[in-house]
Amino acid sequence: MTRIAVLPGDGIGPEITACAVRVLDAAHPGCEFVEAPIGAAAIAATGEPMPASTVELCANSAAILFGAVGGPGFDHLPPHLRPEAAILGLRKHFNLYANVRPARVFAGMEQRSPLKAELVDGMDLVFVRELTGGLYFGDKSLATEDGHEVVRDVLIYRDFEIERVVRFAFALARMRGKRLTSVDKNNVLLSSQLWRRIVVAVAAEFPDVALDHMLVDNAAMQLVRDPRAFDVIVTENMFGDILSDEAAMITGTIGTAASAALGGAPDANGFGLYEPISGTAPDIAGQGIANPIGAILSAALLVRYSLGDEAGASAIERAVAHTLANGPRSRDLDRDAGVSTTAVADAIVAQLASVPA
Ligand code: IPM
Ligand code: MG
Repeated sequence: MTRIAVLPGDGIGPEITACAVRVLDAAHPGCEFVEAPIGAAAIAATGEPMPASTVELCANSAAILFGAVGGPGFDHLPPHLRPEAAILGLRKHFNLYANVRPARVFAGMEQRSPLKAELVDGMDLVFVRELTGGLYFGDKSLATEDGHEVVRDVLIYRDFEIERVVRFAFALARMRGKRLTSVDKNNVLLSSQLWRRIVVAVAAEFPDVALDHMLVDNAAMQLVRDPRAFDVIVTENMFGDILSDEAAMITGTIGTAASAALGGAPDANGFGLYEPISGTAPDIAGQGIANPIGAILSAALLVRYSLGDEAGASAIERAVAHTLANGPRSRDLDRDAGVSTTAVADAIVAQLASVPA
């Protein structure tokens, strides 16, 4: 039986992950779901954000369905003891270097965008964010030098780390609209100059994919000026973290944003970690009102990329599209008539059952 490691984590993680499990099971029956603690929940249970037993479960699973990690009361701790260390640790441990973050405006959602509806109607882009290098994983230090506190976060990339994620992005672009935008800060950073050089070299293997380069500040601007101009965007870890939140918000809510973290080609059907990008949303956690769609669409990505079941994945995406267009919607999308987290999941499961695959 295909085992899926389920790591609900903190905040709204457990509520929305439970919905994702239900939908995954309905669209692709026969998986075994095994839960384990992660993040602040794991610190409470075991003292560590990423217990060895959780890592072992993941290693013995086909994929990880991840909720969210983080919480109040950890800000004084060093980075490796904070709940966030768990997600960074899993990405690194399993070498999940390619982070796929689709940003798509579903029909009926145009009015929810903070941008004008006519600017976002039909928006459908994908970020490929490098996920195991850069500022996140370079050496860090805080020292006192000449009576001043001096802090360093080292931005480090090895050539092969850039090359593999760029190749992944080209391959994904080839499977979609055949356009790739590489985002960097080539005018200032040496790391971006190497990045751009490698992008140009890899492009020779993909003559059918149209490539352009964009500076990150300009990319932030172009995303709000004309988000439909993009197909696939590839960028390093920190730039991707920031820009993918911007793109998610443009789609109307971060509550529907899904992601996949992969360690091989987009069509390899390998191991991956799947998580909504909304985070723990502590302000609404435990109230049963969070939007489960980010988690549900992450489950769809799991079905596509780790289980190789394109029919199951697109069935989930169609059921989500139908539910977003016709309701019911959660409260982030409908302040007055919004329904509960589980009611949204119920509607999606019912929709899946009513449409033949
Ligand atoms: C994300 C999150 C994480 C990141 C945090 C929780 C460490 O913001 O997945 O985008 O920065 O990668
Ligand atoms: Mg982020």
